[in-house]
Amino acid sequence: MPFPKHFTWGAAAASYQIEGGAEADGKGPSVWDMFCKKPGAVFQGHTGDVACDHYHRYREDVALMKQLGLHAYRLSIAWPRILPEGVGSINEAGLGFYDRLIDSLLEAGIEPFVTLFHWDLPLALYHRGGWLNRDSAAWFADYAGIVTERLSDRVKHWMTFNEPSIFIGLGHQKGIHAPGDKLRFAELTRAAHHVLLAHGKAVQTMRAASKRPLRIGYAPAAVGRIPHTASAADVAAAKHVMFDQFSKDILHNGLWIDPVYLGGYPEGLLRAFGDEGPPIAPGDLEIIHQPLDFFGTNIYNWQRVSAKANGETGAEHVSYPAGYPATALNWPVTPDALYWGARFFHERYQKPIYITENGLSTRDAVGHDGKVHDAQRVEFLTRYLAALRRAGDDGAEIAGYFQWSILDNFEWAEGYKERFGLIHVDYQTQKRTLKDSALFYAQVIRDNGANLPSLGPTEI
Ligand code: GCO
Repeated sequence: MPFPKHFTWGAAAASYQIEGGAEADGKGPSVWDMFCKKPGAVFQGHTGDVACDHYHRYREDVALMKQLGLHAYRLSIAWPRILPEGVGSINEAGLGFYDRLIDSLLEAGIEPFVTLFHWDLPLALYHRGGWLNRDSAAWFADYAGIVTERLSDRVKHWMTFNEPSIFIGLGHQKGIHAPGDKLRFAELTRAAHHVLLAHGKAVQTMRAASKRPLRIGYAPAAVGRIPHTASAADVAAAKHVMFDQFSKDILHNGLWIDPVYLGGYPEGLLRAFGDEGPPIAPGDLEIIHQPLDFFGTNIYNWQRVSAKANGETGAEHVSYPAGYPATALNWPVTPDALYWGARFFHERYQKPIYITENGLSTRDAVGHDGKVHDAQRVEFLTRYLAALRRAGDDGAEIAGYFQWSILDNFEWAEGYKERFGLIHVDYQTQKRTLKDSALFYAQVIRDNGANLPSLGPTEI
């Protein structure tokens, strides 16, 4: 079957990764501005100070998006542009930037999907304890209210947090993303609980502040597993790892997703966390569990599992064979993650599914003919999109897909080494070049995917 008639074809990026203008027009510093300056924190000392200079070149970038025929563009707002200290006085120039960006998108016929938090916490709030401070929920809700008041006449689709498990896991547990901390487990679950409260309070504030009904979702990075075969036993094994196998794991779906969509932490998870679990005050779970309109999730690569040979509950890890296709970051190419991801999350959370990010890094360069021949990205898109369509055929409600990313950009601790874009960026000249994959994706959008081959599951 074809993709649904009103399927949203988009691409995504995030404020710190593309904007630059780190100190422009009154913007305050974020934890990433601080972290990038720590010796050894980021590949070759790269920073987001200039990035793709999208802050100054957004008109050119929107024109390219229009050329590709994007229906939608997923952007994030830099909190410290709006509130340089995180709370308190509003920086009008910061709001003005997003006003202009959104107006140019709408003029180009592109719908903005806005994420409120893609990791650039105002540094001033980190100095007040950041997410460890329970007040962080109110700080975030106030910020969300300010942005909603200003933009909700034009922006209908919103996401509160992007991949909260990752900025807590990599930023506060492993110390390899901003702010670079290595906290104890009880502190991690405290921070996580405050992020979830911030989500819930923000949704309440946004609905109250908006001039019209909004569609609000969330964009977690789910932990996922591909069943090795479609047998009932392998499917049950994959779901078991994703939802019912509990340990002191700060990335667990039961920590980040179930409270938001189902209204509580799984009991088994709280048991596994013991006295290092989240500090739940009366009423918190009701605040966290706000009605949402869609389920967004970022999916890149998943491991495979099969049922245990002896029939016991649990799962066996299935390795990818030697020489299996991989991206520049060495991530295995696993199209079936989109198939099973859409199916599992739709079945469990019963909301329309948006793939809010999916893509790959390749070592692209502008060739002697002035073009960028990124055949690997074309192949990747072909396979992943065919798998997503198959999930729709098999009953998952698929509503949209956002390719990561519209532009090559600052890939966090990997700096500019990794190129994820449909559009190549020369960071010396800021010249943009459409890659072959951009032209291919434009055709997918024009045809609503009818040009994609029908492909079955990947056999390994
Ligand atoms: C993330 C972020 C993106 C990354 C992308 C590629 O999820 O890590 O949302 O900012 O750039 O996922 O790693």
